[in-house]
Amino acid sequence: MSKKLLYEGKAKIIYETENPDELLVYYKDDATAGNGAKKGTIVDKGIMNNKITTFFFDLLAKKGIEHHYLKVLSDREVLVRKLEIIPLEVVVRNIAAGSLAARLGLKEGTPMKCPIVELYYKNDDLNDPMINHYHIKAMEMASEAEIKTVEEAALRVNEILVDYLKTKDITLVDFKLEYGRDGNGKIILADEISPDNCRFWDSNTNEKLDKDRFRRDMGNVEDAYKEILKRLTGEVR
Ligand code: ADP
Ligand code: TMP
Repeated sequence: MSKKLLYEGKAKIIYETENPDELLVYYKDDATAGNGAKKGTIVDKGIMNNKITTFFFDLLAKKGIEHHYLKVLSDREVLVRKLEIIPLEVVVRNIAAGSLAARLGLKEGTPMKCPIVELYYKNDDLNDPMINHYHIKAMEMASEAEIKTVEEAALRVNEILVDYLKTKDITLVDFKLEYGRDGNGKIILADEISPDNCRFWDSNTNEKLDKDRFRRDMGNVEDAYKEILKRLTGEVR
């Protein structure tokens, strides 16, 4: 398949394909934290994140959620629907951790009485600042109806994932999603769902099984990704 480099991000490379409606995504092992301030490699992360994302997208599709994955091409490559990405990081939180714990002075691990949705402006130069509906409408990033669709869709993803992950002894602490518009303006789930953009804790021990092990120099980073892959798919790496 002929491909033309479109964009290289921090974790993935995006190529145009012969089909203008489809993109090829290549998952790298590169890891960054603090918006690129810390850089490193997580061995085989690209392979594991592609497999984990495929697993979650298949699970969500069975529950009626449309996503952008079309066809896995190789361990690290997937064909996706080309979308006009809404420049928002849609974060859903069930338990206080990370920036929420820091911002509101909450002890990490404090359960929230209801899930929290937060919206961040996806802009590396500005360090992805948190924004609200007014900013989004004023900057014409999305309409009120689109914001509502995205928030409700993210909460539905949360319900499905929380319930499923419980059966695998995994607590879904929080996660980030991205959405895009297709040619008809329909909002579709994009990007990835993996230990890079979710906080997963072992339900029995609260051991961190996600990228926080890299962010916080906790060691055994690869093992955490392997463990999530194994619990979801049974694959041992
Ligand atoms: P970042 O841009 O934050 O460094 P990545 O390295 O993961 O992140 O790069 C992937 C890029 O591809 C992101 O900017 C993401 O918004 C974009 N993207 C994800 N899915 C699609 C899609 N279906 N269509 C177009 N762009 C997409
Ligand atoms: P935070 O606590 O650092 O705000 O992160 C909340 C969740 O969002 C966590 O699961 C990690 C994820 N996330 C990303 O995927 N990309 C980002 O740029 C940020 C800041 C968080």
